[in-house]
Amino acid sequence: MRLVTVPLRKRSYAIKVGGGLLSRLGVECARLKLGHRCAVITDSNVRRHFAQVAMKSLAGSGFDPFLVSVPAGEKSKCLAVVEKCLDRLASHRLERKSFVIALGGGVVGDLAGFVAATFLRGIPFVQVPTTLLAQVDSSVGGKTGVNLQAGKNLVGAFYQPQLVLCDLGTLKTLPKREYVSGLAEIIKYGIICDAKLFAQLERDLPAILRRDPKVLSRIIARCCEIKAGVVGQDETEGGRRAILNFGHTIGHAIENSFGYGKLLHGEAISIGQVAAVKLSREILGLPSGEVERIEKLFVGAGLPVTFKLNAAQYGKLFAAMKLDKKVSGGDVKFVLAKKIGRVVWGQNVSDSQIRHVMGC
Ligand SMILES: NC(=O)c1ccc[n+]([C@@H]2O[C@H](COP(=O)([O-])OP(=O)(O)OC[C@H]3O[C@@H](n4cnc5c(N)ncnc54)[C@H](O)[C@@H]3O)[C@@H](O)[C@H]2O)c1
Ligand SMILES: [Zn+2]
Repeated sequence: MRLVTVPLRKRSYAIKVGGGLLSRLGVECARLKLGHRCAVITDSNVRRHFAQVAMKSLAGSGFDPFLVSVPAGEKSKCLAVVEKCLDRLASHRLERKSFVIALGGGVVGDLAGFVAATFLRGIPFVQVPTTLLAQVDSSVGGKTGVNLQAGKNLVGAFYQPQLVLCDLGTLKTLPKREYVSGLAEIIKYGIICDAKLFAQLERDLPAILRRDPKVLSRIIARCCEIKAGVVGQDETEGGRRAILNFGHTIGHAIENSFGYGKLLHGEAISIGQVAAVKLSREILGLPSGEVERIEKLFVGAGLPVTFKLNAAQYGKLFAAMKLDKKVSGGDVKFVLAKKIGRVVWGQNVSDSQIRHVMGC
């Protein structure tokens, strides 16, 4: 098992990465010295695979758990489902020392974290992420929340978990497309922070695609360490945390304008990262050899790297980019790479430069 600490002084917590952790859930929670009643929030897919093991482990350690299952998918990240979950917590008489366990992907993590943050003005929660994206990204850092009709993640709270358990065994049942989508975030960490990790991903790609637990445990722990380090320096996204948005400016715009139902988040940010890398070559002189290596890794992982748009669609894309949170004072701000492992944020990029790299 590998251990990563998220350094947030009094709110510091451990991320544990390894095999068989789900069956140790009860033992791990017992160490936190919380109350004995807890809610396990999960979704309809994850429930089928893992709820029984989780509930048995908790009961075996003397906890009194109950299960709250929501429909799988992004639609459950909404206030109506938050209210249903809160009602269930109230009807089971959860109290201040009781706790919530998020068992699932990023949707369940964001939803259950927000439920925990708001019930009785905040009760403890534990993350058990079961998708690759959730293990390397959404379960770390304390962003919780849900969507509104007007847009994604518009309601939420910064609320840190007490513990994150990444059980590598849970990744075995993940559909291939979801798994590969998570790889886009992993490659991102290599580009923004760690050239050695990037080279390791190039070397170990076949083992990663086979979901080899030994290789995965090292890589997932390293990604959590990078995110933990960035979050530790900038918990609420005032500055350096922006580097985690590498590839997300164009990625989100593609997702918002054309992607829903068509592209997964990882697929959209794969396209966004390759575009950002090409902008980096033009603006910061990122060497062509590195641009090629990056593109090759995304393609080798099975991710899309281009998205063809006509003139009208391009207009829609640019409008979406201007609406994005990362715009300040009308300029679209980008995170760009100087070399693999080193990025800078707050870079102004012109409309024509974006048009050029997107091939529009
Ligand atoms: N809080 C953050 O910092 C942060 C960061 C990135 C993304 N997010 C959020 O995360 C969400 C996306 O997360 P996601 O990609 O994990 O999607 P998800 O939670 O919808 O999971 C993807 C699909 O896989 C299924 N699934 C989950 N684990 C499984 C397993 N082990 N075996 C089989 N099926 C399984 C789910 O039921 C779902 O159908 C988005 O809402 C996004 O906004 C949050
Ligand atoms: Zn992302």
